[in-house]
Amino acid sequence: MTADRAIPTQLDDGWQGVDEGWGRQAVAFATICEPANCREYVALHHYLGVQTGDRLLDVACGAGLALELATVRGARCAGIDASPRLVAVARDRNPDGDLRVGDMHALPWDDNSFTVVTSFRGIWGTTPGAVAEVYRVLAPGGRVGLTVWGHIKASPGAWALAPFALAAAPKVEHQASMVALGRPGAGEAFLLEAGFVEIERIDIPFVFEFADPEVYARAMASTGPAFEAIEAVGETAFLQTAVELARDKVRDGLPLRAPISVVGYVASKPVGHSATGGGHVVTRGSEQPSVSFLAPPMLTPEAQHRFDDDLEGGGYVTNVSRVWAFMPATLEGLSDLMDQVTEAGSLTFRQRAVLVTAAASTLGDSYCSLAWGKRLAAEVGSDVAASVIRGEDEGLDASDQVLAQWARRVATDPNSIVADDVQALRDGGFDEAQIFAITAFVALRLAFSTVNDALGTRPDRELDASTPEPVRSAVTFGRQPGPDDA
Ligand SMILES: C[S@@+](CC[C@H](N)C(=O)[O-])C[C@H]1O[C@@H](n2cnc3c(N)ncnc32)[C@H](O)[C@@H]1O
Repeated sequence: MTADRAIPTQLDDGWQGVDEGWGRQAVAFATICEPANCREYVALHHYLGVQTGDRLLDVACGAGLALELATVRGARCAGIDASPRLVAVARDRNPDGDLRVGDMHALPWDDNSFTVVTSFRGIWGTTPGAVAEVYRVLAPGGRVGLTVWGHIKASPGAWALAPFALAAAPKVEHQASMVALGRPGAGEAFLLEAGFVEIERIDIPFVFEFADPEVYARAMASTGPAFEAIEAVGETAFLQTAVELARDKVRDGLPLRAPISVVGYVASKPVGHSATGGGHVVTRGSEQPSVSFLAPPMLTPEAQHRFDDDLEGGGYVTNVSRVWAFMPATLEGLSDLMDQVTEAGSLTFRQRAVLVTAAASTLGDSYCSLAWGKRLAAEVGSDVAASVIRGEDEGLDASDQVLAQWARRVATDPNSIVADDVQALRDGGFDEAQIFAITAFVALRLAFSTVNDALGTRPDRELDASTPEPVRSAVTFGRQPGPDDA
């Protein structure tokens, strides 16, 4: 082969030829090269808060180790890579995953299909079209995490990548332009241009670690860029150069170790108006974004069922479902009890909305105040719903005012209630059985809110973004929407 032939190992070359470079030693790549990347995968997944209920796509997924690790965290995974031989390994490792051979510039999934998209050194400055595709398939509020090589020359392990420079000069230059995204400001501008918000640059741990120079040389030879060098000098010369280079780095009783600078970018797809005027300032710390104080539980089929219902109903998994994933059957049971008392009390949807909005706002529960304030707004108007949240009840009809006041008494201090107070409900047109049902309904709602609030459950960002402004402004208490402003 000649050195000036177009060698399709670069991401912007014809994607169908990529397998020639990346797939020719897929098994060696998967077993002796890719495992070193695990630090990078774990770090980015942790930072993105990948968890049960996430639908995750890994772009340029290679042999699929990152997907295997995301599955351990509870995500349902999909991946795409141009190399059929690498995808074969990825499928073997991820039998339940949706693994496809294809081009990152034309992702074969619908708009808004994923809650998280990752790409580990798979998207480059030379592939802006792929970022537009990532944006398209991410659901609003979804998170993206990309890694790119950082300042390689300044890295202690730079020597490990040196054999790639054996490639023909134009190929080496192209490799350099591909990694330009790691320069300060470059990735941020790239993502901003694509429409992402809350962009943050983070350091990602990355260390090549090998048993000896021969294993190192084989590992490097299994990669795409090595293919370009091998085309220029032949495989034997490539391996010899690599082995000789590594001999100098051998340490007694320790592995060959080459730390290399890798940069990560995390960002979000905006959710409606919350991206700008949402009123919740995003301040990312180094902590993993969280939806509550608890670490996510293992995903059970019951919890998954609930997540699927959420996705079908509203397009995202609610934070309530995530928290109650510890005991989804108990949440079902609680909801059945609420249905029973609703039926027994012949409570209309509007009456329930009044009761929940008044009880939740009295308790200081922002989640249910937003969720039911929004529903009440649809029944009686946003300003009236906001007034109920503020405890003023302006514009509410007399019978609903009686309900709102009763809910507040039950939520505040049930022991201060006297028999005469119940008369207000009778005067409002409710009989004895209904009064019991109304009280039981409020008490069950308070139990639900108390669990959520005590465990730090944050209102969904999507819920916050879709709630009418007067209602949002009235919710001046409780947990802030999350997870992204955790
Ligand atoms: C640097 S490797 C990274 C692989 C994997 N993310 C990892 O962590 O090992 C780049 C990957 O991009 C894939 N690739 C190259 N061009 C592509 C394209 N147009 N569409 C999809 N994948 C592509 C290659 O097959 C290769 O697996």
